Amino acid sequence: MNHFATKTLAGVAVATATIFSVTPAVAQEAKLKVGLMLPATGTFADLGSATTNGFKLFVSENGGKLAGREVEYFTVDDESDPSRAVENANKLVKRDKVDVLVGTVHSGVALAMAKVARESKTLLIVPNAGADEITGPLCAPNIFRTSFSNWQPAYAMGKVLADRKVQRVVTLTWNYLAGQQYVEGFKESFEKSGGKIIKQMTLNFPDVEFQAQLTEIAAMKPDAVYVFFAGAGATKFVRDYAAAGLNKTIPLYASGFLTEGNLESMGAAGQGLLTTLHYGDGIKNAKNDAFRQSYAKSYKRQPDVYAVQGYDSAQLLLAGLNAVKGDTTKREEMIKAMETAQIDSPRGRFTLSKAHNPVQDIYLRKSTGNENQVVDVAIKGLADPARGCKM
Ligand code: PHB
Repeated sequence: MNHFATKTLAGVAVATATIFSVTPAVAQEAKLKVGLMLPATGTFADLGSATTNGFKLFVSENGGKLAGREVEYFTVDDESDPSRAVENANKLVKRDKVDVLVGTVHSGVALAMAKVARESKTLLIVPNAGADEITGPLCAPNIFRTSFSNWQPAYAMGKVLADRKVQRVVTLTWNYLAGQQYVEGFKESFEKSGGKIIKQMTLNFPDVEFQAQLTEIAAMKPDAVYVFFAGAGATKFVRDYAAAGLNKTIPLYASGFLTEGNLESMGAAGQGLLTTLHYGDGIKNAKNDAFRQSYAKSYKRQPDVYAVQGYDSAQLLLAGLNAVKGDTTKREEMIKAMETAQIDSPRGRFTLSKAHNPVQDIYLRKSTGNENQVVDVAIKGLADPARGCKM
């Protein structure tokens, strides 16, 4: 946060107040600078735009202001490229001097953002990236997440398959932080209950040439395949899986990101897929109904989980700002309010764990038409174990 500018302006305000004897309120009058660091290009581009749409929808529902302060956006396309992530985050923190950093989708990029936030003490709200470290060893008072840890949907799917007595599973994902954690979390619950992962396959992020792996899966004939893919790459995978005829012989399971925002582009290949996630299209609550209507009206398309998470990031920010009447220099009070907030999310109400990660129900969903319909609660009120978080 820009303490120097705030103090200088506050000095002017005190002088003005002496002359005109009005209460100075400069910190609350300046525009609130929000730095959105998200992917605008590449395989996660649609995820970045849904996140942005969700965030901006909440702000515009509040008249373009949060706690009385007009919101000004600063944006960077992070391209889901970890090698440029520190430089990109610093464009927002050092050059634009944002009050809050919001981002991102890709776990590797988010790790770098968390490091920048820890060093600069900038408030960071993570609206997607699940890197377990963010609410684990890298946890910090100024770092919050409104989405999930990678462990959460992964652990839930391992339990679902173990409960269904599925025995021999092949896993397949991109070889990067999130992919690794989707396999680890799955393995933890699946193997504990007697299942066995017979092969862990990977390809480089964000490659989409799946033929070699599909040929090997066909030859191995596992009881099921479990994958983590998202965005445009996920659509390509599901279509290729069906084109190889595997959807007829080997059930495919995944974290819900596989189908989020992708069912239309997957067509017939995307039907009937079982996935685990903290959101589903058919969730019945007043907030979800209102949110879906409002989103569809503003953007002429249906929202997905990324839109929900963007919306909830703005809701969490408002909870903090309201407690200090928009004065972000009252940092501790603001953080305390965010820590204890109850977010009335379209996914259902949630609170944050001590490590600042949502404690939430993980649903089992089935893709039907253009919806990921909830068929069951896989695990209720699941909290990430926050391994290594000292706060
Ligand atoms: C991640 O990199 O953490 C990630 C990316 C896309 C998703 C979910 C998680 O849909």
